[in-house]
Amino acid sequence: MIKRILTGDRPTGPLHLGHYVGSLQNRIRLQKEYDTYLLIADIQALTDNFEHPEKLEANVFEVALDYLAVGLDPEKVKIVVQSMVPELTELTIYFMNLVTVATLERNPTLKEEIKQKNFTKGLPVGFYTYPISQASDITIFKAHLVPVGEDQLPMIEQAREIVRRFNRTYDKVLIEPKALVGQVARLPGTDGGAKMGKSLGNCIYLGDSPDVVRKRVMSMYTDPTRLHPTDPGHVEGNPVFTYHDVFNPDKAEIEDLKERYRKGTVGDVEVKEKLFKALNVFLEPIRERRAHFASKPGHVREIIVEGTRKGRAVAQETMGEVRTAMKISYKLQG
Ligand code: TRP
Repeated sequence: MIKRILTGDRPTGPLHLGHYVGSLQNRIRLQKEYDTYLLIADIQALTDNFEHPEKLEANVFEVALDYLAVGLDPEKVKIVVQSMVPELTELTIYFMNLVTVATLERNPTLKEEIKQKNFTKGLPVGFYTYPISQASDITIFKAHLVPVGEDQLPMIEQAREIVRRFNRTYDKVLIEPKALVGQVARLPGTDGGAKMGKSLGNCIYLGDSPDVVRKRVMSMYTDPTRLHPTDPGHVEGNPVFTYHDVFNPDKAEIEDLKERYRKGTVGDVEVKEKLFKALNVFLEPIRERRAHFASKPGHVREIIVEGTRKGRAVAQETMGEVRTAMKISYKLQG
């Protein structure tokens, strides 16, 4: 049996370099080996954007474009829109019985987000319970593997816990998924912050034009202790070098820059110019493919509709098994 991948993204904006190294790269590499489902999680995005649902529709399309742009092959992967699979919502309600409030309270990613989002009118139950909804996303497709960024590990752990509980309580229907974290666990933001994040304004987006990328790179945070190009500088923990290590294939050039940086014989500008060049080489084919698909919105829509149709068929099959296992599969006729 060919194993499945399920992973996804909230459609709250375009995808960035952090998404690429955290998860997209693994998806591209594994799409030939795994039956892959990519969920555009608009219902999850609603949990903290419920007052602005208009934000999501355009971004569903943008995220699909990003998938296609990085080389996810629509002949192989299924792009599924979460709100078009109502079975996910049904499963979430059943799963809610299997999770305690205390478990949600301990979820470190959830805790961090609640702090960051600073819900002024009180914490919505919908947001608080999104890890349960995410467990439905993963398990309804019977995924074996979930390629995600490091911050999502507590979500996979929550899904695993629910699966064990479900299979013990009812019947062995669900698969306990494994997480797969990318080559770079967490790409720092251009501001040197721990994480590149849409809401943090420290991103380089996969669709950014060369001008924008240039501006972003030239204003990147480097070594705060280094005031002049002749001061010896720090390479470790310096995001400009972290990016070089990830995106510049010319290892000899990186070594040379690092050596000169440590000695104080290279300026930030040269290091950044070379990073910009490397990033541009990396982003150019992505931009081209993005432009190609963006010029055919009807085709992209078809890809989404077809992916969602296939995804929903899997979800319906799983829900049949779930209802039987839970003894709520009544036959009202005959
Ligand atoms: N929570 C993920 C994020 O913020 C998006 C997501 C929704 C997801 N459903 C998923 C990721 C299922 C992996 C599996 O990026």
